[in-house]
Amino acid sequence: MAALSVWLALTTLLSYATANANGPPSLPEWATPPLNPALASFSIELAYFTEYMGNQSAPNNLTQNVFDNLKQRTGVSPEVRIGGITADSAFWDPNLGEAVYNLLDSSGALVNTTLGPQFWDAVKLLPDDTNIVLTLDLENLNYTGALSMAEAAWAVLNVSAVGNEPDHYSLDLSAQTYTSYWEPWSVNISKVLDVNYPEFQVGVTVEDPLWPYNTSAAESQFDCVSALAAGADDGDTAKTCSEHTYQYSVCDTTRAADATLTNLVNHTRLAMYLDLWQPRIRAVRDQLGPDSFVIGEFNSVSCGGKDNVTDTFGQAMWLLDTALYAASINVSRFPLANNYGPAQVYPAYSAYLFVADAIGTSRTLQIANIFPGRQTNGSSITTAGGDASAGQLAVYGFWDEASSASASAGGGAEYPSKLALLNMQIYNETDAAARPSVTVDISAYLPSGVRDTGVMAKRLVAPGADVKAANATMWAGQTFAHGYAEGVYVEETVYGGRVEVEASSAVLVYW
Ligand SMILES: *[C@@H]1O[C@H](CO)[C@@H](O)[C@H](O)[C@H]1NC(C)=O
Ligand SMILES: *[C@@H]1O[C@H](CO)[C@@H](O)[C@H](O)[C@H]1NC(C)=O
Ligand SMILES: *[C@@H]1O[C@H](CO)[C@@H](O)[C@H](O)[C@H]1NC(C)=O
Ligand SMILES: *[C@@H]1O[C@H](CO)[C@@H](O)[C@H](O)[C@H]1NC(C)=O
Ligand SMILES: *[C@@H]1O[C@H](CO)[C@@H](O)[C@H](O)[C@H]1NC(C)=O
Ligand SMILES: *[C@@H]1O[C@H](CO)[C@@H](O)[C@H](O)[C@H]1NC(C)=O
Ligand SMILES: *[C@@H]1O[C@H](CO)[C@@H](O)[C@H](O)[C@H]1NC(C)=O
Ligand SMILES: *[C@@H]1O[C@H](CO)[C@@H](O)[C@H](O)[C@H]1NC(C)=O
Ligand SMILES: *[C@@H]1O[C@H](CO)[C@@H](O)[C@H](O)[C@H]1NC(C)=O
Ligand SMILES: *[C@@H]1O[C@H](CO)[C@@H](O)[C@H](O)[C@H]1NC(C)=O
Ligand SMILES: *[C@@H]1O[C@H](CO)[C@@H](O)[C@H](O)[C@H]1NC(C)=O
Ligand SMILES: *[C@@H]1O[C@H](CO)[C@@H](O)[C@H](O)[C@H]1NC(C)=O
Repeated sequence: MAALSVWLALTTLLSYATANANGPPSLPEWATPPLNPALASFSIELAYFTEYMGNQSAPNNLTQNVFDNLKQRTGVSPEVRIGGITADSAFWDPNLGEAVYNLLDSSGALVNTTLGPQFWDAVKLLPDDTNIVLTLDLENLNYTGALSMAEAAWAVLNVSAVGNEPDHYSLDLSAQTYTSYWEPWSVNISKVLDVNYPEFQVGVTVEDPLWPYNTSAAESQFDCVSALAAGADDGDTAKTCSEHTYQYSVCDTTRAADATLTNLVNHTRLAMYLDLWQPRIRAVRDQLGPDSFVIGEFNSVSCGGKDNVTDTFGQAMWLLDTALYAASINVSRFPLANNYGPAQVYPAYSAYLFVADAIGTSRTLQIANIFPGRQTNGSSITTAGGDASAGQLAVYGFWDEASSASASAGGGAEYPSKLALLNMQIYNETDAAARPSVTVDISAYLPSGVRDTGVMAKRLVAPGADVKAANATMWAGQTFAHGYAEGVYVEETVYGGRVEVEASSAVLVYW
């Protein structure tokens, strides 16, 4: 049995702790099917979509570049969900003379949104190959209105979701009452559009799953699984299921107290949170197929994010680990919620570049969490079972079974072809002490040929988790504060199979 040995420099006094994750380096049985290349995607509020996109005569170049950087790495455009809470008060008016009309009340709050034909011109600014999910208004229970929006949209995009967070409507829907609308609407709209294949996204709920999952209270929750059980897909219209995840919230003071940078940058906490979805992910994929479970909107902190938390490099570490961990438990895509603010590049964007570079142009890349590893219940939380890093280290392997590279060069199922090493120990730019680091020995995962030639490494790093400047956040030596790469590209060669990973940083290793 090969072993991945990890030496943790827990303090600057060089007191080393060791933790072991057992190999072998071959494709683990719990590895995912091939990753969707649009894993790192975006969710944009419908009412503010044109603010991000601009218009035909003045396209928003920042947004274009932010999308294009990902496409350059994976070969496909990120998926874009146009939706969110504003979609449930959005109407179609074929005679509107502007792209969007947002009706505001006297306090400046949004009352409702009307879209006109020019809106689709803004949608067309997305690259041609973009998969777009548009949310139709369910909350007003106006089928005619939803149909008219779907018909207008159909010329430019494909998948539709009906309703946003219907488990939070004042209508107090159950899975059954929701399904009594969703199922006939999706069937009838499909007929009108002459679509005879599943093209709708079901669910879009936001309440966290209750745990344990096999109690009657948990089973009666309104979510994708209970909607499917109530017959949502009886008309074969459901292509995907979506649920939203917000690990933290500032909606109320109790939860706001937990929404700290220290809690954010912690593998154990984010994995425990995502593990709540494992039973649902399994159930949905059994019914709708391997690429069907989508976290259609997510972020670290709901109700608008939190200053000094969501705008930091710590958020990038959280985002990277959340994306990779969720992928490793078979979530197919994650459109990150780009809430209300103006189009701006935050440090977190670099985490998406990491993910896109990790996936690359392969269409056969499979991921598995190899450290801390898995318990029999599928959770990767092994703190009790020997993860001495206290939720500070995570390692993911990427295998390319169909790769033509020889096994000795890291092709096939015998060895991974890439590893992502994350050190979630928090280190702030404002900390006086020297930055701790971990040396991860990956030699057990390296094919013999590669051990001699060395591995390549790219780093995701900033001066600390508390850093808010995108111009100080580096991916492979470059910053992306203006949407495009600035600075000198840095790709290291590491010999000896021992990779140093600084606190609050991550390394993509490949060969
Ligand atoms: C992911 O799905 C595959 C089947 O598609 C399964 O073999 C694997 O065990 C799943 N992994 C996890 C962590 O659930
Ligand atoms: C396009 O956007 C620019 C910048 O916001 C604005 O000045 C211009 O009026 C818009 N053009 C149209 C046709 O809406
Ligand atoms: C946006 O991109 C277009 C086309 O590449 C270019 O002509 C224009 O100058 C750019 N605008 C800005 C503000 O960079
Ligand atoms: C938007 O809200 C206003 C104010 O309540 C209402 O008068 C108007 O009819 C609404 N728009 C649509 C399209 O329902
Ligand atoms: C439903 O939507 C249609 C089309 O937008 C609109 O004409 C109608 O007034 C709406 N009905 C209600 C009750 O709001
Ligand atoms: C919609 O889906 C069909 C079938 O997958 C595809 O041929 C078509 O190009 C898609 N259209 C758009 C606008 O994405
Ligand atoms: C859907 O179509 C069926 C059959 O044509 C019809 O009975 C039903 O009223 C329609 N539902 C809605 C919400 O329009
Ligand atoms: C729930 O599942 C756990 C573990 O699979 C099992 O031990 C427990 O008995 C189950 N509880 C119920 C109420 O079925
Ligand atoms: C964010 O951090 C800055 C710098 O430490 C501080 O001045 C500011 O008060 C903080 N904001 C909040 C909301 O705590
Ligand atoms: C990470 O979170 C877990 C679970 O709450 C906790 O046990 C652990 O101490 C945390 N790690 C750090 C470094 O705070
Ligand atoms: C890092 O800074 C945050 C505030 O920005 C603070 O809450 C946290 O305790 C700091 N952690 C360390 C290890 O300095
Ligand atoms: C980074 O951006 C900040 C403003 O956000 C600016 O003050 C600083 O000069 C910039 N640094 C560099 C190196 O461009």
